[in-house]
Amino acid sequence: MTNNLRAAIIGTGHSLPEKILTNSDLERIVETSDEWIITRTGIKERHIARADEFTSTFAVAAAQQALDRAGVKASELDLIICATVCPDMALPSTACLIQSQLGAKRAAAFDLVAACSGFIYALTVADQFIRSNTAKRILIIGAELLSRYVDYTDRATCVIFGDGAGAAVIVPKEDGSGLLASRIQSDGDYAEYLYIPGGGTRHPATYESVDSKLHYIKMKGNELFKIAVRNMCEVSNLVFDDAKITAGDINLLIPHQANQRIADAVADRLGIPQEKIYGNIARIGNTSSASIPIALDECIKAGRVKSGDILMFVSFGAGVTWGSALVRW
Ligand code: UT7
Repeated sequence: MTNNLRAAIIGTGHSLPEKILTNSDLERIVETSDEWIITRTGIKERHIARADEFTSTFAVAAAQQALDRAGVKASELDLIICATVCPDMALPSTACLIQSQLGAKRAAAFDLVAACSGFIYALTVADQFIRSNTAKRILIIGAELLSRYVDYTDRATCVIFGDGAGAAVIVPKEDGSGLLASRIQSDGDYAEYLYIPGGGTRHPATYESVDSKLHYIKMKGNELFKIAVRNMCEVSNLVFDDAKITAGDINLLIPHQANQRIADAVADRLGIPQEKIYGNIARIGNTSSASIPIALDECIKAGRVKSGDILMFVSFGAGVTWGSALVRW
């Protein structure tokens, strides 16, 4: 592809459940402490959906905000990509449910399953459509309700995850702004480091599968931690080379909000100073694919992103999957 088209983000939005679950609430549910959770993860509270709220509830609210800010009508969208591991239903895709609620009649819609790396994967896929000139207005969404898959008797996972959605509207730009470089990578050898075994074709829902808690998240957190830091640093160095820039050129680093210690270790190894990292994990917890677009929207609303700035996204999640992207604003 020889054109200069780049995928540029022209509007963002996010939506969170009203209900908040604090560390002291969790102290009453499992054997844990506010001090342990803050020290090991940086999390103080997370938003949790009510039973009558779904992944699409927050995805549609985030998407509508992003469309309004972009000045794009839902009816003008060519494509909707919803990155989620928490679909409303097994079938059809949550993207189709979102399309219907937005009234985006012209758009093709599909879900993308890449767990916490979902937003960077979706951005990278959207960029292919933009560069090949096959779509001009694309909505990408990261939306998760991991609370539905959390075992609130398992202290190793229930303190980590929260619910929410973030969205971005993407259009082609030829002025040098937009996606400068992105890399997405996976290694399925580590599939069982973070997984939900039940509910698919391997362990369909049965009384036995539910009794065995197969529909809950299982995580080898400590093992993941080490791979996460290593892979996030390696892939970041690849995108620096691709875009011919260095860590010193980054104005704002928005890492996936998995754990404050992971974000700090990655930034430290890359040589990016604390004041250039954005984090909201204390208030929002780990919202998987939603974490980067929620954080990006907060940064934009807070005036932390200026024209010409270089933003960096980096993530790691179940699969395992990881990726990094550089965007000139
Ligand atoms: O979203 C992307 C994918 N996910 C990740 O990248 C997660 C990466 N991993 C992590 O964030 C961290 O590994 C965790 C926060 C999940 C855990 O922190 P850790 O420092 O790796 O703790 P650990 O798993 O090594 O456990 C240390 C101790 C254990 O007790 P013993 O065996 O030393 O007696 C755990 O049983 O902490 C215990 N523990 C807890 N204690 C109080 C585990 N969870 C809790 C808890 N409260 N909630």
